[in-house]
Amino acid sequence: MNISVVGTGYVGLVVGGCLAETGNQVIGADVDAKKIESLQRNVLPIYEPGLDRLIERNQSAGRLSFTTDVPEAIASSEVVFIAVGTPPDEDGSADLRHVLAVAETIGRSMKRETVIVTKSTVPVGTAAKVAECIGRHAGFAFHIVSNPEFLKEGAAVEDFMKPDRVVLGAETDHARSVMAELYAPFVRTGKPIVFMDIPSAEMTKYAANAMLATRISFMNDIANLCERVGANVDHVRKGIGSDERIGPAFLFPGPGYGGSCFPKDVKALVQTARDQASCLRILEAVEAVNEDQKHRLFAKLSEAVGGDVSGLRVAVWGLAFKPNTDDLREAPSLTLIEELVGAGAVVVAHDPVAMHEAKQRLNGSESRVTFAASSYDALAGADALVVVTDWNEYRHPDFARIKAALKRPVIIDGRNLYALHRMAEMGFTYHSIGRPSIA
Ligand SMILES: NC(=O)c1ccc[n+]([C@@H]2O[C@H](COP(=O)([O-])OP(=O)(O)OC[C@H]3O[C@@H](n4cnc5c(N)ncnc54)[C@H](O)[C@@H]3O)[C@@H](O)[C@H]2O)c1
Repeated sequence: MNISVVGTGYVGLVVGGCLAETGNQVIGADVDAKKIESLQRNVLPIYEPGLDRLIERNQSAGRLSFTTDVPEAIASSEVVFIAVGTPPDEDGSADLRHVLAVAETIGRSMKRETVIVTKSTVPVGTAAKVAECIGRHAGFAFHIVSNPEFLKEGAAVEDFMKPDRVVLGAETDHARSVMAELYAPFVRTGKPIVFMDIPSAEMTKYAANAMLATRISFMNDIANLCERVGANVDHVRKGIGSDERIGPAFLFPGPGYGGSCFPKDVKALVQTARDQASCLRILEAVEAVNEDQKHRLFAKLSEAVGGDVSGLRVAVWGLAFKPNTDDLREAPSLTLIEELVGAGAVVVAHDPVAMHEAKQRLNGSESRVTFAASSYDALAGADALVVVTDWNEYRHPDFARIKAALKRPVIIDGRNLYALHRMAEMGFTYHSIGRPSIA
């Protein structure tokens, strides 16, 4: 099939690459000329395991190409995916400017009967607005599909190639049959394609992210209470996660959720409810708990060093909002670093892949934030280590080396990576999330 994917960010690149991999002819179109020029040279703007090889392989096989000529890409396609950003507006609702701009271009540019697929995460009712925008200009029949994306950054290619399920909101037989054909190679093991009406598909994406964010905030709340009552959240997590009705995933407490999806999607859903004169009380609490949680690492560090961090040198391990990505959007590390710098500390940070991105983000605080070439380099002469992201390389470090490099043996562990007995044996002052502290 001839396909174009408009928007070549995390989602657009994965969708385009994977659809080309199964033999389709795919054009990735974006208004960002610099990004497109790099992609044409197989230089990716993001770090995502396996994506570079996928893009390179399909570009050299002639199945995938990139262009800034969005109208031309649309004109030559039977299926157009919209995968542009939907950032939060001032009130938290999803900003649909980019989606509707693409819809307008589709209406003006299509040259045949076309299936238009919304991949961007958009509130209920957006497909109707997209249809209206296209319909104002289109001279051909078109079919709208809502196909929310559930990929996880860090495992995005794998998730797209082997999805747990594919959700498709479609209202014509033509749209359903085109989409079933397109997704057939990805669901050969019998994973379901769940067809539904369009508003339900739009809502499914928000409900999924809202549920996952709820589990995280719930566990952070429980972890904070564990600290007060002397319980260990690790045991509690295993104790509840082995209940089949609950399951073990997304029960890890930490420094608060971040990333491009949970914070913005929770906000957008809360706002959708308000727009309907309704109220999602649980989700409002989920968001408030998460905001508080992002300040916990700073509070724990301040307490561990006697209340004042000014003049301290603090090593930070992990900047990306989660491992295996360089995505820093809404990352808890940024909150921590801002607080440390604001309180007069200096920060030496390390991250296996996100330092380049972080240098741009933290532009302006350069003199107080430096970046180390290795995790151990970050420790030299530091007064404390704070672990923010659970990259594999931080999971089993050389504790003797850490202790020798630090000026004071203080570790604040935002991911509960280290065994309490080991920290005690090694003589660290160690604070984690929801577990007894070692002083
Ligand atoms: N990142 C994720 O993990 C993830 C997962 C599922 C769903 N989503 C959703 O998918 C959508 C895209 O997310 P992303 O992380 O890929 O965003 P992104 O910011 O990485 O990429 C968006 C791209 O769209 C391009 N763009 C903007 N306006 C355009 C226009 N008018 N024409 C052509 N290109 C345009 C931008 O230049 C950018 O390259 C969002 O709605 C997001 O919520 C993201």
